[in-house]
Amino acid sequence: MGIAYFEAERIFRLDTKNTSYVIGIVDKEGFVGHVYYGKRLKEADLSYLMRIAEGPRTPETNGRDRLSFYDTFPQEYPTHGIGDFRESAVRIEDANGHSAMKLTYAGHEIKKGKQPLAGLPATWGENSETLELTLKDEVLDIQVVLSYSIFEDVDAVIRSARIVNCSKETIYLTKAMSASFDMDNHDYDKIVLHGSWARERHIERTPVSYGLQGSRSLRGEGGHQEHAFTAVLEPAAGQNSGEVYGMDLVYSGNFRSLIERSQFDSLRVMTGIHPEDFRWELCPEAAFQTPEAVLVYSSEGLGGMSRCFHDLYRNHLIRGSYRDKKRPILINNWEATYFDFNTEKLLGIAREASKLGIEMLVMDDGWFGNRFDDNRALGDWEVNEEKLAGGLKYLVDEVNKLGMKFGIWFEPEMISPDSDLYRAHPDWALQIPGRTAGLARNQYVLDISREEVADYVFEKVAKVLRSANVEYVKWDMNRPLADVASAALPKERQGEIFHRYVLGVYRMQERLITEFPYLLLENCSGGGARFDAGMLYYSPQIWCSDDADAIERLTIQEGTALMYPLSTMGAHVSDCPNHTVGRVTPFETRGHVALAGTFGYELDVTKISEEERNQIPEQVAMYHKYNDLVRTGDYYRIASYRENHTHDCYMVVAKDKSEALVTFIQVARRANVHSRNIKLLGLAPEKTYRIEGEERTYLGSTLMNAGILVQEAWGDYKSRLYHVVEA
Ligand code: GLA
Repeated sequence: MGIAYFEAERIFRLDTKNTSYVIGIVDKEGFVGHVYYGKRLKEADLSYLMRIAEGPRTPETNGRDRLSFYDTFPQEYPTHGIGDFRESAVRIEDANGHSAMKLTYAGHEIKKGKQPLAGLPATWGENSETLELTLKDEVLDIQVVLSYSIFEDVDAVIRSARIVNCSKETIYLTKAMSASFDMDNHDYDKIVLHGSWARERHIERTPVSYGLQGSRSLRGEGGHQEHAFTAVLEPAAGQNSGEVYGMDLVYSGNFRSLIERSQFDSLRVMTGIHPEDFRWELCPEAAFQTPEAVLVYSSEGLGGMSRCFHDLYRNHLIRGSYRDKKRPILINNWEATYFDFNTEKLLGIAREASKLGIEMLVMDDGWFGNRFDDNRALGDWEVNEEKLAGGLKYLVDEVNKLGMKFGIWFEPEMISPDSDLYRAHPDWALQIPGRTAGLARNQYVLDISREEVADYVFEKVAKVLRSANVEYVKWDMNRPLADVASAALPKERQGEIFHRYVLGVYRMQERLITEFPYLLLENCSGGGARFDAGMLYYSPQIWCSDDADAIERLTIQEGTALMYPLSTMGAHVSDCPNHTVGRVTPFETRGHVALAGTFGYELDVTKISEEERNQIPEQVAMYHKYNDLVRTGDYYRIASYRENHTHDCYMVVAKDKSEALVTFIQVARRANVHSRNIKLLGLAPEKTYRIEGEERTYLGSTLMNAGILVQEAWGDYKSRLYHVVEA
């Protein structure tokens, strides 16, 4: 690993173990271009890749065609207004109302380590190196510092940009993307994730077409519908081979991730905060820091890319004591009781659950203020003693006496019109003066961009947490942002609210994990609308979807695991018929599917059948047996139900290849068929393995090249685990 500047060639080369990212400086004006990203290279003399020897050449050799140069040159951080008519990464409004910008090389520094980003989530870790490349617009006196970090143990490049106003005039930033790079098009495919509530992160793969394409959110959060993650891959690339470029954004607000295919078949790939609804005042000497973008290149297909993201996020993004720890098996009362609960009912669930080996009770929505349904009381974070007779401490103590931990639900960013908080502070809700703000789930969003509002809510939440031994928080957010205006900012700065809101949420969560470092935090947003890399900096796990149906989850979890580690995916066994789709699946299958995530229960354990209840101790044992492997191992996808409509299969292999767990789900039973041959992945070819429960042994190479035979089970939705252990 290392970052080097080759002075004679004017080339920067960032080498991770298997990849190189190359940037070049050309022309006497010092234009900074993207040269190469891919498999590791050894040479420095690579500037020919920017095609500067071809027409239109560079302005110093062909001044009459400067615009053609701009419109073809692979600018590393493209600007707007001077002749590159493709998507720009940065745009300003200067004191005269102009938006043009020209960035050229002004200097660089190569540093050991990686700095945190003030107020923003960021990857971290020793064994890293950072290139800070400073570009400058001489006319405007504005600097852009592009930051590139690499780590010793993962093939990823982490980018961000800092825009510094060195002039004496105030300017406005109207676009500041985190990363952009150009590449040759080799007839690539692209992958984006789409969805809806209860259908999050479905994978869509299509060819890259001409013009702009990609994904975005203007909802104030990532949302259920689209995701900042994008991949560009060879059409022949599959799970285990082929070139794949993955890009993700470490951010939890409005985003735009795009691919643009130009007239000359180059691709521009970019991600960052969505420029719509973004306008940031930059006073003299002020700087704006973009969120981080993560770039991953793998020549080992989608699987190689996923494993790299998983390692990066597990080792260099997630923090806190639970990062490397098994999480307690929880039981959440939402689908068990909805709003209809009280102390006795919760204790009834806890008593039964504790006997079965479940380790934590989570009290979901409905414990505070006048919250008897979802029409009221958000913001009134006082325990409702009518429901919780004896108070929170009594309940928590009783749960603790059963040997269980206790967790609680909050939705701190929200306010109900029917709440004491709204009656006292109507201006704390985001709303545009003169307009009636739109409700969603009968609630408004608090103006978390205002420090005093965020501080007030934080104190209310903290007071509850200080009052009893609460060891887990589910932080929910059940509507997007609309009618966005802040009573606290002048009219020129209303465009800052969306980003300031996200910064406010980050600040609150940072305070939360600082004051309560033992807390297990799980983010959530109407299911999985805030499953993003930004949130993983604060919470090691995120609720994946409100749809806990085992079959629906196969597709949701496949899309989520494309870049997020299994250890982060909130997954529970829920009741049947499933509350979202009405499907009835075997209890065993629900357990096997939830095992690929954090594992827990979302049902009334006192009401399910005896037969199902009796399976819980076995499932608890299964979780304890396999969770270390699932949490820390390498993930390999073997078959996708989304693609084949019959079965799903994936496996997790220990880093030292000493064991693996294969999960096979037969979704639709076929009639009159032979057993299915499944080729395993990721094992050591020369090691000898045994499949638990069988006598014989196999070489790893046999299991991977010749495969195992999976008998068809009787019925639909059946699942099986294969534990492969070194003999
Ligand atoms: C969201 C969450 C659910 C539950 C409800 C409570 O929808 O995703 O798990 O907490 O809110 O209102």
